[in-house]
Amino acid sequence: MRICSSIAEVRAACLAARAGGKTLGLVPTMGALHEGHLSLVRAAKAKCEAVAASIFVNPTQFGPTEDLAKYPRPFERDCSMLQNEGIEILFTPSAAEIYPPASVTWVTVEGLSDKLDGRSRPGHFRGVTTVVAKLFNIVEPQVAFFGQKDAAQLAIIRRLVRDLHFPIQIVACPIVREADSLAMSSRNAYLNKNERARALVLQKTLQRAEEQFRAGERNAVKIISAVKATFPSDPHVRLDYLEIVDPETLEPIETISSTALVAIAAFVGTTRLIDNVFLQA
Ligand code: PAJ
Repeated sequence: MRICSSIAEVRAACLAARAGGKTLGLVPTMGALHEGHLSLVRAAKAKCEAVAASIFVNPTQFGPTEDLAKYPRPFERDCSMLQNEGIEILFTPSAAEIYPPASVTWVTVEGLSDKLDGRSRPGHFRGVTTVVAKLFNIVEPQVAFFGQKDAAQLAIIRRLVRDLHFPIQIVACPIVREADSLAMSSRNAYLNKNERARALVLQKTLQRAEEQFRAGERNAVKIISAVKATFPSDPHVRLDYLEIVDPETLEPIETISSTALVAIAAFVGTTRLIDNVFLQA
């Protein structure tokens, strides 16, 4: 595995990996890798002849009061995990490499980037789409892999690729969960023992929405209010949003007549967690 920290170096490595028309897959990450990330790497390995991953804790997608400084950075461990998966290229740029001094150019997916997490985290998706567009331009993969865990991010990246004509296929990978169903996340490491137990509330809330749907309810507003009414009142848990939306536009749905996305975000202690499930009408 070739580890590159400069754009020039990774461009050369990617060019060589694509030589002779070989398919190059990209797995963008912020590191602190877990089985969720590795499922993306494995999907990339299965579909592409060469795989590049990136580890970059992108400062522009963190709000001023968020966890940029404390975001876990177990670099050696991440490297050996990726090495074990047999990928060809690892891109680990510095912030100065990605954002040259006096950078003023941003990529914004208007209309979608202020929905769901974008509403609670202003500027977050502008940071995500800007860095992802940069990574696409630098690595020039034919295929890029993203997790369904970040459903809003996935919808926004699909729109970015369509609107800016990136010749890149986006592959969505299913949510990987812990044995007790908690969605894997690098931020789960912030949870203490009590918070870890409380974090199951996200999955339980989604299950309640699914139950209402399976019982025949198609009115999304009714499902949301019924489920919210059962959300535990616990000083250590705060619901950020619970919404039923169109998975492509992220617009709230009134009547569920085709595939709908139920998305939740909640603070458990000070840790913000997200999860989601599809309802298939
Ligand atoms: P990060 O949170 O590190 O996630 C990297 C990729 O792993 C994303 O596509 C995410 O959806 C996927 N992922 C995380 N947890 C997962 C799980 N439990 N199951 C399946 N996939 C999972 O998302 C980001 O980084 C950043 O925003 C990034 C796209 C790299 C841009 O900075």
